[in-house]
Amino acid sequence: MNEQQQLVLAAKYIQQGRLVAFPTETVYGLGANAFDAAAVNRIFLAKGRPADNPLIVHIADYATLPLIVSHVPPQAERLMRAFWPGPLSIVLPRNEHVPDIVTAGLDTVAVRWPNHPVAEALIKLADLPVAAPSANRSGRPSPTLAEHVARDLGEKVDLILDAGLAAIGLESTVIDVSGEEPILLRPGAVTLEDLEQILGPVRVVGAHPSPDQPVRSPGLKYTHYAPRAPLFLYLGEPGAVVQAQLSRMAELVNDGKSVGILTYDQYLDYFPTAKLLSLGSYDQPAEAAQNLYQVLRRFDELDVDVILAHGYPSTAGLGLALQNRLVKAAGFRLVWI
Ligand code: TXA
Ligand code: MG
Repeated sequence: MNEQQQLVLAAKYIQQGRLVAFPTETVYGLGANAFDAAAVNRIFLAKGRPADNPLIVHIADYATLPLIVSHVPPQAERLMRAFWPGPLSIVLPRNEHVPDIVTAGLDTVAVRWPNHPVAEALIKLADLPVAAPSANRSGRPSPTLAEHVARDLGEKVDLILDAGLAAIGLESTVIDVSGEEPILLRPGAVTLEDLEQILGPVRVVGAHPSPDQPVRSPGLKYTHYAPRAPLFLYLGEPGAVVQAQLSRMAELVNDGKSVGILTYDQYLDYFPTAKLLSLGSYDQPAEAAQNLYQVLRRFDELDVDVILAHGYPSTAGLGLALQNRLVKAAGFRLVWI
């Protein structure tokens, strides 16, 4: 089957209520017809996803929007003009025809127009809005390669469209403009600074790690994006972080533990271990973002007992999204140096 035939088959599968994994510019999605509650239910089953976590509905034209939302507030319209198609999901008042299972019963729905030729072609050919979470098992790092999807979901997905490594590597920015004040719910490649240029001040909920916040227990609800081994995230001045990683590693190795180190190119030479992975240069956040989930999955293959990770040194721009995903991968096991 050539690419076009695969796309036609994938679109037919969506129309038939089957599940199709497809590439986007952020991460791979697990798609189903957003208006088919039974198909969407299969997404939740395939992922092992809790039913209280709503899905993003993907579109590839503006004509479909009124089928999904009740109206488009002016702020949302400005965001669409500036960032769609692109890595921005906008939470809007829902159209009552969207099945409850998509929105987890909320009166809002998240909508995104992805900027990827395969995703756009699939949605257009199916001629349906496509509900799609990231195509990973719930709690696992989002897939940035088709093989991640195959490994996590196997037979549970009817077809996987493969377009290689996702360009951005982190899930879309999620902003809620359904209320009076815009709220950034998940930072992403459309940055807080980008949003504020269009909207003015935006409230940020829980994206910044802070030493004043009590360290939460590695709570079930919070361990997202996680590799199998517990990950401890070290935050602070880079030289001190490296020293802290080294001394903790020595203690753990003494206890017979296999220790993985996550760092940046600049610090690789400090660590006398083979179980060492870099996110790239710490001054190249786009590269670190693209590498992150692949690197977290590679620690599983290295079979480490514990991961000591260096936090991203800046929370400006894309750094906020990177730090947010690292904190989630750590399940809030944060070590402030
Ligand atoms: O980049 C992405 O957004 C990828 C690709 C496939 O588009 N999708 C993705 O979906 O990351 P998922 O399900 O893994 O993350 C969706 C996020 C969740 O944090 C969910 O709680 C939030 O969006 N969300 C969805 N609908 C919402 C709503 N009505 N109100 C608030 N948050 C919502
Ligand atoms: Mg996800």
